Amino acid sequence: MSADCLIRPAREDELEEILAIENASFTCPWSRQSFLDAFAGGPVTIYAAERDGVLVGFSCLLTIGEEAEILNIAAAPDHRHEGVGGLLLIRMLDDAEESGAQNVYLEVRASNTPARSLYKKAGFSEIGIRRHYYTKPREDAILMKKALFPEDKGHL
Ligand SMILES: CC(C)(COP(=O)(O)OP(=O)(O)OC[C@H]1O[C@@H](n2cnc3c(N)ncnc32)[C@H](O)[C@@H]1OP(=O)(O)O)[C@@H](O)C(=O)NCCC(=O)NCCS
Repeated sequence: MSADCLIRPAREDELEEILAIENASFTCPWSRQSFLDAFAGGPVTIYAAERDGVLVGFSCLLTIGEEAEILNIAAAPDHRHEGVGGLLLIRMLDDAEESGAQNVYLEVRASNTPARSLYKKAGFSEIGIRRHYYTKPREDAILMKKALFPEDKGHL
């Protein structure tokens, strides 16, 4: 199902497609300006998942020194549970490791079962909770971490 999905750096001319997926995926979506800032350069990389010429997902990775953070990841609603999120995650973990990161962090809504399952499968562990962190609806954030040891790549 996922073999034909290409993961690559996103282009700024794909911003409208990225925003469409973002707005369909989150109650508090990133603004257009947030994506433009990321495209402008700096420590954030935006990835695109492309299948048959269509953008079916994207993700954002922040890498600073020995630490990396997954800032965003989403598959288009019509393309969920087809391997897109897993491939994006694997690519970000590979790139984080290659850039010298020792640990990768992220936060996820407590009720987000698909995402928590994806991260657990990729070898992330829960390291803390930020109470009432999210709005719309108000909800706890689960903090997760993965140490980038080559022998601990998870099983995606
Ligand atoms: C989370 C998300 C990115 C996963 O992407 P995806 O392409 O659907 O996931 P994949 O097909 O690669 O699935 C990989 C694993 O994720 C988990 N998963 C995906 N969809 C799931 C679902 N509906 N229910 C439970 N687990 C699920 C499973 O562990 C799955 O492994 P499996 O196929 O062996 O069951 C996707 O559900 C999404 O875009 N959600 C909305 C945005 C979001 O919540 N992003 C995360 C913010 S922290």
